[in-house]
Amino acid sequence: MTMAKEERQSLIDLANEARRRAYAPYSNYPVGAALRTKSGRLFTGVNVENAAYPQVMCAERVAVFKAVSEGETEFEVMAVVTNNGGSPCGGCRQVLAEFGLDTIVLIADGEGKLQKTMTVAELLPEAFTPDHLK
Ligand code: THU
Repeated sequence: MTMAKEERQSLIDLANEARRRAYAPYSNYPVGAALRTKSGRLFTGVNVENAAYPQVMCAERVAVFKAVSEGETEFEVMAVVTNNGGSPCGGCRQVLAEFGLDTIVLIADGEGKLQKTMTVAELLPEAFTPDHLK
C-alpha cells in the first residue's frame, strides 16, 4: 500500500475520536470508523444502538452512507477502531464491497494501534457485486 504511516495513523486517530460519540449503551462496545474517499474527503461514523436491539447501525455503514449521501461513491481507505481490534461485520463488508473490492480497511484497537490491514476483497472473498446484476 502506498499510504504513508502517518496518513494511516491520522485516519485511525480520527476514527478513534469519533468513537467517543458512539451511542452504544446496550453493548458498551463503541465503534468508530473514518472513511477517506478517492477525492480526499473524510467521513466518520459511529455505531448507533436502539432500545429495540435489532435496529442498531454499525459505525462502518454510517460512514459509508454519509459519504454516499454527500455524492461520494469512490473510496480509498477506511479505518475501524474498537476496544479490542474487532473486524467489520459481514453486513458492513457487503456494503463496502458495493463500492469497490480494493478499498483498504485498517483495523485498529482502542489505543489506536493498527492490528490489521486488509482489502475488502480479502475481507469478503467471492463477493456478490453490482457486476453480477449486469
Ligand atoms: N458493530 C459495529 O459498529 N461494527 C461492526 O462491524 C461490528 C459491530 C457494533 C454494533 C453494536 O452496536 C456493537 O458493535 C456490538 O455488536
